[in-house]
Amino acid sequence: MSFFDKFTFQNGVELRNKIAMAPMTTYSGNEDGTVSEQELNYYRERSKETGMIITATTYMQENGQGFDNQFYGGDDDYIPSLKKLAKSIKEQGAKAILQIFHAGRMSKPGLKKNQDIVSASNIPAERENAPIPRELKEEEIYEIIQSFYEVTVRAIKAGFDGVEIHGANTYLLQQFFSPHSNRRIDKWGGNTYKRLKFPLKVVDSVIKAKKDMKKDDFIIGYRFSPEERENPGITLGDTKILVDNLCEKELDYLHISLGKYDQKTIREEDDEITGKEILKVIKGRIPLMGVGSIFSEEDLEKAEEIGYDLIAIGRGLLIEPKIITTLKNEKEIEKVIDKNNTTLPDNLLEKIIKHQKPYGIKIK
Ligand SMILES: Cc1cc2nc3c(=O)[nH]c(=O)nc-3n(C[C@H](O)[C@H](O)[C@H](O)COP(=O)(O)O)c2cc1C
Repeated sequence: MSFFDKFTFQNGVELRNKIAMAPMTTYSGNEDGTVSEQELNYYRERSKETGMIITATTYMQENGQGFDNQFYGGDDDYIPSLKKLAKSIKEQGAKAILQIFHAGRMSKPGLKKNQDIVSASNIPAERENAPIPRELKEEEIYEIIQSFYEVTVRAIKAGFDGVEIHGANTYLLQQFFSPHSNRRIDKWGGNTYKRLKFPLKVVDSVIKAKKDMKKDDFIIGYRFSPEERENPGITLGDTKILVDNLCEKELDYLHISLGKYDQKTIREEDDEITGKEILKVIKGRIPLMGVGSIFSEEDLEKAEEIGYDLIAIGRGLLIEPKIITTLKNEKEIEKVIDKNNTTLPDNLLEKIIKHQKPYGIKIK
């Protein structure tokens, strides 16, 4: 098997290869929440070779926004904007997957529209100047679950091939699953199984939208982060329970969020690769997408050996839109962006210039 080969989902949808663009926020939507021309061009350039593109995450509730200039999916008026995005990707032969989320307590304080930071409980994140979130009321929890249904319907109407539910990277779904951020004593909190309830309800809601729209070939993925550093925090043991439950749902793929594809556990004294641990739980029930620091053909081969069914590339595709050809010919890419010769949207380029070191990318 090779990531360069075709892939067919259980629902029959075929990808021209097993390489996806990882979801990456662009900070470059228009002020009104529509997708900008710069973004369309950025996605077009990166859709020419990849099997599928997972878009920047979109929000659908005002208090779910995470960053400046995110594009929005919370209203039918935004379907034309989403349609342009889906088209820019699909026209180039890649499948278009819209990532959907609610930022919860990780919403950036001071965002124009969002003055209301909410989460499972009123526990701030462990970072400097983190705001104390407001605990969501039960009726609001149901509203959010419904908003995942509605954004999925909009994604289908806009022509997307699928959605990816963003359950990773410390945002609201993870906040409900985490014993750090979820201290609720009602039915939405407590032991691991109770903390699972909200993410699983969101999954059910998205699947219901697909069924109601009679869109059998619509792809639904779920992204999760396997562990948290905080104490208390999500352990690999918790995640194995999450994954086992997700495998029982009609999902098309799971997507593990890692900084490096062969990363080992960060909490426990264990030298097993996290991706392998998760594959043992999945037992072939659902394809698993890996991710993290793929910059060479050797990285791809090593990720194949771990057993991932699909692989996502993030920063590699920011640097080199045609990374597949480059890896085939030159075996690796240089981690450098020429700021005068790039199709990155301005605000994203600005962020990378500002954070070159953490992003591991040089600018020339
Ligand atoms: C600029 C930037 C924006 C990101 N935005 C998102 C996002 O919107 N949703 C998400 O799930 N992950 C996001 N990520 C994480 C990536 O999807 C990916 O997991 C991470 O960059 C590791 O893969 P890489 O080493 O190939 O870049 C972002 C990463 C970067 C660099």
